[in-house]
Amino acid sequence: MLVLGIESSCDETGVALYDSEQGLLADALHSQIELHRIYGGVVPELASRDHIRKTLPLIDVVLERAGRQGTDVDGIAYTAGPGLAGALLVGGSIARALGMAWNVPVLGVHHMEGHLLAPLMSEQRPNFPFVALLVSGGHTPLVAVEGIGRYGLLGASLVEAAGDAFDRVAKMLGLPYPGGRPVARLAERGTPGRFEFPRPMTNRPGLDFSFSGLKTFVLNTVNEHGGQGNLDEQTRADIAYAFQEATVGTLVIKCRRALEQTGFKGLLIAGGVSANTRLRDALEKLVKAERAQLYCPELRFCSDNGAMIAFAGCQRLMDGQHDDLAIQVRPRWNLETLPPVAHVI
Ligand code: KG4
Ligand code: ZN
Repeated sequence: MLVLGIESSCDETGVALYDSEQGLLADALHSQIELHRIYGGVVPELASRDHIRKTLPLIDVVLERAGRQGTDVDGIAYTAGPGLAGALLVGGSIARALGMAWNVPVLGVHHMEGHLLAPLMSEQRPNFPFVALLVSGGHTPLVAVEGIGRYGLLGASLVEAAGDAFDRVAKMLGLPYPGGRPVARLAERGTPGRFEFPRPMTNRPGLDFSFSGLKTFVLNTVNEHGGQGNLDEQTRADIAYAFQEATVGTLVIKCRRALEQTGFKGLLIAGGVSANTRLRDALEKLVKAERAQLYCPELRFCSDNGAMIAFAGCQRLMDGQHDDLAIQVRPRWNLETLPPVAHVI
């Protein structure tokens, strides 16, 4: 089955063609980072307008790269949520229109399921069940995964997501948006031990976490050292280092508890922050100690992309699932409410 995937939930237009037999045939991505950078964050209306400009040309690009025509496509998957309503509607409308033109089924995919399943496109796949830590810009759930569409929420960040915390700390340190990579790069020059930031909610039982206290701690430290414009280079790097250590430390503690609580031997990470080298190294150490295995997406599939939507959509379309003619977008959408998928990949 040949599936066209369209991702337009936030600030990346991603398009891909995934074939159930041959794997990923082609993918293309347009990032809107430059468009939003001067505003220090994503401007929803500008995001929607840019998705309108870019989606159809990117579909032409992937069809050409794969040597296929629109009429070869057997099904279309688009991101139906969670995300920005206007941006989601662009992908949904285009998917629905092409579905009618090509007379093929169309399915709205959950963006976080796309992230969650992205590592399954790699050769080394986890066996079910496993624990998944989804670390993206908007959400940080810790999920027990029994199968595709069989998700149980173990815990989550209560106030704001890990990626969001990186972005906010980047702003405090005068770094550009999105801040994850710049903070990680600055942290490489940091001095271990100069600052110690708290690991929020790790001293209580449970698998929920929160980064808001840590963020306040960073802000106070910046202000104690003269405020954003007056920090010397080494102090900025030392703050970035301490923040990254505290964030990674918190996630490691929660993942350890999740592995111990479930008894599962696989830990999967996905989402934008799963590109973070320090996090990957720390979790490698953890799984070794727990006699478990770590599964990560390829670096290009950590952040938003069309391939993960085509892949997730393909699993569900092959199962016979598809939407009716209405264009469904769900800016808020609980992962646990998804229907299970019967077929095994
Ligand atoms: O999953 P994603 O692409 O978008 C959402 O679905 O939200 O995640 C984007 C987030 C941003 O907050 C970005 O700063 C963060 O991922 N990020 C990183 C790194 N690369 C991207 N955070 C930490 N370290 C990185 N290397
Ligand atoms: Zn995402």
